[in-house]
Amino acid sequence: MTRLVEGDVRALTAHLDEVERALVGLTGCDLVALAARACGVDEGVARDALVHAAAAVVPITSGEGLIPGFVECVAAICARLGCRAARVTAESDVAGFAEALRDGDDLVFAADDRTFLAFDLAARVVADDDPCTAHAYVAALDAAAGPGGVAGRPVLVIGLGPVGRAAAARLVELGADVLVCELDGARLAAVAGTLPVTPVALADGLSRSRLVLDATPTPDLIDADWVGADGVVCSPGLPPGVTAAAARALSERLVHEPLALGVAVMAVEALCGGTAMR
Ligand SMILES: NC(=O)c1ccc[n+]([C@@H]2O[C@H](COP(=O)([O-])OP(=O)(O)OC[C@H]3O[C@@H](n4cnc5c(N)ncnc54)[C@H](O)[C@@H]3O)[C@@H](O)[C@H]2O)c1
Repeated sequence: MTRLVEGDVRALTAHLDEVERALVGLTGCDLVALAARACGVDEGVARDALVHAAAAVVPITSGEGLIPGFVECVAAICARLGCRAARVTAESDVAGFAEALRDGDDLVFAADDRTFLAFDLAARVVADDDPCTAHAYVAALDAAAGPGGVAGRPVLVIGLGPVGRAAAARLVELGADVLVCELDGARLAAVAGTLPVTPVALADGLSRSRLVLDATPTPDLIDADWVGADGVVCSPGLPPGVTAAAARALSERLVHEPLALGVAVMAVEALCGGTAMR
């Protein structure tokens, strides 16, 4: 996992509008609709749960410490999702959790160097950013693929860390013909041994698929000559695995941002007990 930097989260907070507009343009879904789709939850149920939820984000100072702007960004995303309240706790760490519990917050977010979780305090449900991000980006790819979604279509998953593995599993569930590309032999073998996926080299995978889920921290894997009129890349990877020229050619057919889609799915998953954590 790549550590987020202040510039990423500040830019997202400032441009949430544009991120959501681009998402709607490509998929027809705003953040809540996409999260509901990712979690297998009715959209109205998700919106209703969110408007009744007070969200609190607890700053965690352990390890490498706070990323400036991170907790404010998560709170801004929760406000955008329609939560009845969305704030950063005044206290940090353990005292911040106590504050959220004492003040009656429903949904609590907290991240350290390794783990980013959302807790529904009443329902005792925990949602993890990695599978939630994977499900969010798969839902975007499925919606962007048009009628029928990814079912029966080749989809290339690049990178099989926690995010890529969860994405590959979800794509298999959706009926995609899943091609996987991973440099680490042990990770590749673990996935290929448990899921009906086809290991490929990157160039082969790109030549066989117009739909790509990039879950690596490696830049410049995909160049502009691949893009054409119908290529779609959904990339939670930080940075995204496309060249600057490919990003320009893809325009809104590149889904990439550092936090919002994952947080939207974490919130709906925690509040509604969806399918993103299975
Ligand atoms: N946008 C978001 O909301 C969000 C949320 C969570 C994680 N992330 C990011 O998503 C990415 C994936 O997360 P992760 O925790 O699974 O990461 P990870 O580092 O555990 O896994 C990445 C995998 O990609 C593989 N890889 C790297 N370069 C490759 C290449 N050229 N070809 C094939 N495979 C290659 C690595 O071997 C590794 O197994 C990271 O960049 C992470 O920071 C983003």
